[in-house]
Amino acid sequence: MITELAKNVFWVGVADWGLRHFHGHELSTHRGSTYNSYLILDEKVTLIDTVWTPFQDEFIQNIRKIIDPSKIDIIVTNHSEVDHSGALPAILRHCPSATVVVSRKGRESVEGHYHQPNWNFHVVQTGDRLKIGKHELVFIEAPMLHWPDSMFTCLTGPNILFPNDAFGQHYSTEFRFNDQVNEEELYEEALKYYANIITPFSALVTRKIQELLAMNLPIDMIAPSHGVIWRKNPLQIVEKYQQWAAQTPEKRALILYDTMWNATRRMAEAISDGLVEAAVPHKMLHMAVTDRNDLLVEIFKARALVIGSPTLNRGILPTIAPILEDLEGLAFKNKIGAAFGSFGWNAAAVAVIEKRFAACKIPVIAPGVSAKWQPRPEDLQACRQLGQKVAEAVKAG
Ligand code: FEO
Repeated sequence: MITELAKNVFWVGVADWGLRHFHGHELSTHRGSTYNSYLILDEKVTLIDTVWTPFQDEFIQNIRKIIDPSKIDIIVTNHSEVDHSGALPAILRHCPSATVVVSRKGRESVEGHYHQPNWNFHVVQTGDRLKIGKHELVFIEAPMLHWPDSMFTCLTGPNILFPNDAFGQHYSTEFRFNDQVNEEELYEEALKYYANIITPFSALVTRKIQELLAMNLPIDMIAPSHGVIWRKNPLQIVEKYQQWAAQTPEKRALILYDTMWNATRRMAEAISDGLVEAAVPHKMLHMAVTDRNDLLVEIFKARALVIGSPTLNRGILPTIAPILEDLEGLAFKNKIGAAFGSFGWNAAAVAVIEKRFAACKIPVIAPGVSAKWQPRPEDLQACRQLGQKVAEAVKAG
């Protein structure tokens, strides 16, 4: 349903309740998502972002409920990823002479996606302003939040910040504003979004927020491109991003493992016993049955990562390998690590995991434990001791 955020500013996006995977199948979205687009009626009719291509007809119908799409003068493309720019070609068929406002990198990537060099582009950079009538648009480049082209747009008057992906959530809801939805669910989704998408750019988040606050733009609402709009105490999500960007872990551990014939599982349980004895909170997740993106939230929160796999074909199980890829790709900070695993005739898994920890600059705080075939009592005792050492390291900070 169309929602009016402020006088003459409308949400005309689409709620995708059924979405369960995003970025192809890379990211799980248990609560769906929304593709938020905003229509501003001033002397110039302005659209902020569009929606993903499969929803373009519904999107244009939404616009039509307010205004004939041929009346659109300006389309701000804050970010060219197709979940936001996918309906650009369709909308521009209605208003072919509309100005497409982009960052410098945005022009490059919009052209790269749609091969339309003759669209009427207007390239902006940080601090540029565009008068649209009574109000102005102020632009702030935000490279890598989420792509090199990303930018924020601020509307003066109602003082609404449109930061595109930043501060968003993959969260489909019946209502549009943060004060209308379950706060626990909202923050679960906001953190999952941060942990899975924004983490590697945390240093940029810190700097961008400092820059944004230094501009002293009044901000009464933050309207991202996914999920709900921050209307009540909008800067709460900015403060939360500042905290998350610091990547200060909780004093907790995470044991993640996979197992073929339960030997590595029994080792994981013995490590857990060691952590329990030292009263260190932790979760133990079996990767064959755990959602990878939910796991990344647990990794984000934990100080210690204890990773276990039996040896398979001179390496590790295929359920563990993607996690090690994610550790490197997402560049988590302030972690410590330890490894364990069973083997039959070639004890390779622990060394593989420790090597990947080194590549991720995650210090290994104690030598890993390997057990041949099924663990003997002394192997399980070594695992308990490993749990205790991890616990000591977690407590030490
Ligand atoms: Fe929601 Fe980077 O696109």
